[in-house]
Amino acid sequence: MNKDTFQGSRLLILDFGSQYTQLIARRVRELNVYCEIHPYNHLPENISSFSAVILSGSPYSVRSAEALHPDLNALKGKMPLLAVCYGAQYLAHFGGGEVAPSNIREYGRAQLSYIKKTDDPLFEDISEGSQVWMSHSDTIKQLPTNAVCLASTADVANAAYRIEGEDTYAIQFHPEVTHSTDGVKLLSNFLFKIAKLTPNWTSANFVDMTVAQLKEQIGNDKVVLGLSGGVDSTVAAVLLHKAIGKQLHCIFVNNGLLRKNEFQNVLKQYEGMGLNVKGVDASERFLTALAGKTDPEEKRKTIGRVFIEVFDDEAHKIADVKWLGQGTIYPDVIESLSVKGPSATIKSHHNVGGLPDYMKLKIVEPLRMLFKDEVRRVGRSMGISDELLGRHPFPGPGLAIRILGDITAEKVAVLQEVDAIFINALKEHQLYDKVWQAGAILLPINSVGVMGDERTYERVVALRAVESVDGMTADWVDLPYKFLQKVSNDIINKVKGVNRVVYDISSKPPATIEWE
Ligand code: XMP
Repeated sequence: MNKDTFQGSRLLILDFGSQYTQLIARRVRELNVYCEIHPYNHLPENISSFSAVILSGSPYSVRSAEALHPDLNALKGKMPLLAVCYGAQYLAHFGGGEVAPSNIREYGRAQLSYIKKTDDPLFEDISEGSQVWMSHSDTIKQLPTNAVCLASTADVANAAYRIEGEDTYAIQFHPEVTHSTDGVKLLSNFLFKIAKLTPNWTSANFVDMTVAQLKEQIGNDKVVLGLSGGVDSTVAAVLLHKAIGKQLHCIFVNNGLLRKNEFQNVLKQYEGMGLNVKGVDASERFLTALAGKTDPEEKRKTIGRVFIEVFDDEAHKIADVKWLGQGTIYPDVIESLSVKGPSATIKSHHNVGGLPDYMKLKIVEPLRMLFKDEVRRVGRSMGISDELLGRHPFPGPGLAIRILGDITAEKVAVLQEVDAIFINALKEHQLYDKVWQAGAILLPINSVGVMGDERTYERVVALRAVESVDGMTADWVDLPYKFLQKVSNDIINKVKGVNRVVYDISSKPPATIEWE
């Protein structure tokens, strides 16, 4: 087994491409069991290190030409297995049962009206009538001969079954979604009553294990890591710091496009956490490189290039550095080995990477096993402040993509003031934590206004606040009118050169969160 793998109870999730696969993994981990997602057609080499397996759902039909038909013999009957949705249908098909198109709609809520085997551990403490969530157009018409039906709904005869003589279970509904009211209970029955796993995936265990592994992996070498002020790079740095102390050299670059006072404030917090961090103010260098550039992608590329130059210059000042630390998290890892290949929907800019190969550094990624919510939990368990952990996401190119058109120091200063009024007001009115991301955008137009007896012709700013889970889809937040009224007054009264404030009420899709 690799030394950077978790050595407590381990569950394998075989992914058939369902949109819910990551949700299954998160539920399992919330029950403190470590799990890994692997594509259905690539069983991990260290299969014997897993003690149980879940087969995911899939957008495919078992009967279609491109159906995913792996050989289950390495798993089935060898370890406890729970097959979900497509997994359940495929398991039936694999065992000689019959899967056919359903002539009724098997989508949405249903009741497990007939739990036939109430004494089966899978349904312990789950009562008759429990609501489950279905999402499929095929149905299992006939079970394999060695299978026994455990539960049905009004429309689905074989909603749950097991293979006799094995700890092999299958359910045609989705226990991982919240609409399945006892879904977590069912998963927990599978994990603990059937597979007898130990709930040892906790933040404390993760930290102990990772620190020990990092010490062994890095030895006396030096590591350089770029801090961004965001959650992932901060937690990665604190973990590395716990393992190797002053051998970790952090670099925090001010690109001149951060929020008001962000560079100084965050640097101070990092220093307070004992990190060996160098703040590099490269604002001028970035602004010079950006001068006259108006195309959003060109701005992004320029900022990316200058960042690499600045980081590389700084990294070279540290003698004998061997490793580059990165805050890569598990969704990035899964994405790179997904069933469908890297998804087109994730933009390249979401990945932390991008530092060039010529740096010739080995990569160390202490968070590559963690989901975002786990990163926060681990950060909290190591004493990182809620203020830092609860910060809204902020794009790498910063205010550059919120200043539409060309960027000047004066525009940055105006936008920083506007943004600070908005963000501080969200905090003062206890709205900050209810919003996933918020910020202000400087529009490339002037509008007519009147102040006193004077006609003005000044800038327009837009405010944006969105709710989201992962930034892939988002909706605008229904902020109270009174609040917006106060923020708008404050901005127009306090920020010179702005005479109009608008609020963005577009959802993503079809709009995006950022305007550029
Ligand atoms: P969009 O605008 O694509 O944004 O709806 C989704 C999320 O990604 C962030 N974002 C970026 N982050 N570099 C980044 O590091 C970028 O170039 C970039 N563009 C958008 C955005 O702030 C939101 O959280």
